[in-house]
Amino acid sequence: MKIAFFSTKSYDREFFDRYVSTHEIIYFEAPLNEQTVNLAAGCEGICAFVNDKLNTGVLSALKKLGIQLVALRCAGFNNVNIESAKLNGITVVRVPAYSPYAVAEHALALILTLNRKTHKAYNRVREGNFSLDRLTGFDLHGKTVGVIGTGKIGEVFCDIMQGFGCNVLAFDLMANPALAARQVHYLPLIDLLEQSDIISLHCPLTEQTRHIINEHSISMMKEGVMLINTSRGALIDTSDAIDGLKTGKIGYLGLDVYEQEEKLFFNDLSENIIQDDIIMRLMSFPNVLVTAHQGFFTEEALSQIAQVTLTNIDAFVAGATLENKVV
Ligand code: NAI
Repeated sequence: MKIAFFSTKSYDREFFDRYVSTHEIIYFEAPLNEQTVNLAAGCEGICAFVNDKLNTGVLSALKKLGIQLVALRCAGFNNVNIESAKLNGITVVRVPAYSPYAVAEHALALILTLNRKTHKAYNRVREGNFSLDRLTGFDLHGKTVGVIGTGKIGEVFCDIMQGFGCNVLAFDLMANPALAARQVHYLPLIDLLEQSDIISLHCPLTEQTRHIINEHSISMMKEGVMLINTSRGALIDTSDAIDGLKTGKIGYLGLDVYEQEEKLFFNDLSENIIQDDIIMRLMSFPNVLVTAHQGFFTEEALSQIAQVTLTNIDAFVAGATLENKVV
């Protein structure tokens, strides 16, 4: 199959070129949207990533170009208008799991950095400043960690936090019996919000979860709570989080995802004037740590993404059962 890859970076080429055999890949750096969709002309399929826009306009344009397959090289599919894909008869496949450890471990990295301030210590020591002032952290041991969404990533994250001696609480639409048997306590969301010292989001972005963290839910949290989001930016109402940071209700905020990330993340904008005032305000807080959607970014996960995406394409071309079909 001739397939147009959108939003590609050097590391995408590196990993896909390592595993591709029969398909012809055309790599485009451009993201997929109404302006760039025609780049897919002459292809039978396209491959898209987290911030590519697969809305009604783009999907009907893809249909007109004869595109039959959208292969997502990510797990989340909140950027795809599923109804429109169905209407246009376009098959959508994804990579449902690729190293849940990568994302769960990155959530831990955010927690440890915010808590023990290793990023500040690194810079201080390099400048000959060996003072410990304002580097105080807290023991994770004995703290209560609330996990919202206990699927593949949430489960690994629960195990990691239990390894630190934390008391782990969870909220999910469907409790995972294996976790419940391992002393993870499922509670209603409101109780989790009230009791947790650290809250980490591991649910998908849906209409139900959009802004699940908002002024109201933040008001129920402990004073000085640590909030971690490695799932999708729109789970948090960013303006409400900024208000929570200003009052001190949120004591630490670790984000690997951001609601308006598509204009920023994955790009080097170091010589540009950033027009997004909300992220600039966020980054002005000493207790906020933002990484640019790198939770998935490990050797293991990138290999897995490339292999599963190519297997999905093989299966589609062969007319075989599509295990990872979204629609
Ligand atoms: P999963 O599908 O295995 O688990 C999601 C869990 O969330 C399920 O247990 C589900 O029941 C639960 N859930 C759904 N709606 C809910 C609701 N309204 N309230 C509470 N729980 C709810 O997904 P997985 O693989 O664990 O991934 C979780 C999320 O992580 C993805 O949806 C994606 O947004 C994000 N992600 C982020 C990456 C990164 O690089 N930062 C990479 C990969 C995924």
